[in-house]
Amino acid sequence: MSLEQEINKRKTFGIIAHPDAGKTTLTEKLLLFGGAIQEAGAVKSNKIKKGATSDFMEIERQRGISVATSVLAFEYKGKKINILDTPGHKDFAEDTYRTLTAVDSAIVVIDVAKGVEEQTIKLVEVCRMRNIPMLVFINKMDREGKDAFDLMDEVETKLGLSVTPLSWPIGIGATFKGIYNIWEKNINIFTGDNKQKISETTQIEDLTSPDLDKLIGENYAENLRNELDLVNGVYPEFDQQEYMKGNLQPVFFGSALNNFGVRELLNAFVDIAPTPQSKETDVRIVEPYENKFSGFVFKIHANMDPKHRDRLAFVKIVSGKFERNTNYLHVRQGKSMKFASPNAFFADKKEVVDESYAGDIVGLHDTGNFRIGDTLTSGEKFNFKGIPAFSPEHFRYINNADPMKAKQLEKGIDQLMDEGVAQLFTLEMNNRKVIGTVGALQYEVIQYRLEHEYGAKATYEPFSVHKACWIEVEDENTEEFREFKRVKQRYLARDKYNQLVFLADSAFTIQMTQEKFPSVKLHFVSEF
Ligand code: G4P
Repeated sequence: MSLEQEINKRKTFGIIAHPDAGKTTLTEKLLLFGGAIQEAGAVKSNKIKKGATSDFMEIERQRGISVATSVLAFEYKGKKINILDTPGHKDFAEDTYRTLTAVDSAIVVIDVAKGVEEQTIKLVEVCRMRNIPMLVFINKMDREGKDAFDLMDEVETKLGLSVTPLSWPIGIGATFKGIYNIWEKNINIFTGDNKQKISETTQIEDLTSPDLDKLIGENYAENLRNELDLVNGVYPEFDQQEYMKGNLQPVFFGSALNNFGVRELLNAFVDIAPTPQSKETDVRIVEPYENKFSGFVFKIHANMDPKHRDRLAFVKIVSGKFERNTNYLHVRQGKSMKFASPNAFFADKKEVVDESYAGDIVGLHDTGNFRIGDTLTSGEKFNFKGIPAFSPEHFRYINNADPMKAKQLEKGIDQLMDEGVAQLFTLEMNNRKVIGTVGALQYEVIQYRLEHEYGAKATYEPFSVHKACWIEVEDENTEEFREFKRVKQRYLARDKYNQLVFLADSAFTIQMTQEKFPSVKLHFVSEF
């Protein structure tokens, strides 16, 4: 197969959902279709179970699971499909944002009864910012829930999407009869007992045909005809180009648990979802079909065995072909590296591979060279863009509680930050270290891991910060900027990349600062 054919086979996506909407269940059914797993229950849920053990032990448990589910790959209809895992828990939102930099499209799962939920809103916003093509799957149609038209409205208003249905439900909950597949023009009848099997569909080319009445009964047939008339009148026709640009999102209905409506989703996905896309760097745009390999690190996983400090860096291949035992340039460090045992991912295992292609993810064993966002190339010097850090929600000073272990603490903090567990800010004034996190749980994790993996002891001290604001100024030599630095010196810090950050203690402070120092631009993300 040519390089282009290999790359065109690949479809890499992530599922985004509020916890409990059915992400794990849907993932599992997709793998069943691909023949990648034999039975249900094979995919472990990575969500944090409520009330289970202590919070940080629970996170350790989930960390173990998330190594296994980081990338799940399967073949279907001649395509290689890579599903990238996205933690649903809000304390891990930043992990999910970063993973979304490595997908070429996304599937949004919504619970028919709960509708659009908080976590979905945030994640869809990140996808919208990047114009990532999205499909929507309305799940749990076997349960009572919202009216299909109302839900479509909710998706449009709350998620800011522009939708068009490619399948349409017939009834809901106790009266759920099945779905009409607008994309393939057939009907799939729901029996509720086909959890493991793939159900049969009946072709209905002509909706006025009496066959429809025989199949689902006159009342349902009449209703379906009316609703589809309305659908035709209200929603735009599906347009591939608009979907690819992120301007139009097709919607599907089904029940993941019953493996119902999943095939319709998957078949349409295979037809319409994008193959690997080009990506911007600080120098030029890189196309997937370029002969030379390039890729970037979007996730780093620490080894679960604390005695071995090696890690697995997940690299999304953006262009060309990655080969084992070949020298590549680690652009930030300016050094050449080769990898003897790169891992590729399959449904439930990882294996050493000789080559992987644009669109794929490879796992590289690392002893501390990589940091999230790092670029690897075949020699050319450029850095991929688009892995910004977002302002953390919580901030605390971190102190060394064991003076004999200062080095260990420093190394531990350094490596945990490389992994993206949290963000480190070093105050300009006195070099004190401040840790910023998305969720309060991360503080326990950091403390625990510093002790168990690095033999260091840390304590925290409160530090009242509302938001970290990355600073942009056109000219650093203005009187205004000098004055800003003088007035705010206690709140100025450097992030890990040595960018200047203003740790503002309230929304009011931010507003006042902007009014007083208009030439100093404040950003809540690190890339602007
Ligand atoms: P998540 O990964 O998005 O957090 O959701 P997950 O798939 O774990 O599903 C959350 C719950 O919703 C699970 O029940 C699952 O069985 C159920 N579920 C998923 N899809 C459907 C569906 O189509 N219909 C119905 N009725 N339920 C669905 P649970 O009781 O929390 O877990 P479990 O004990 O059944 O595993």
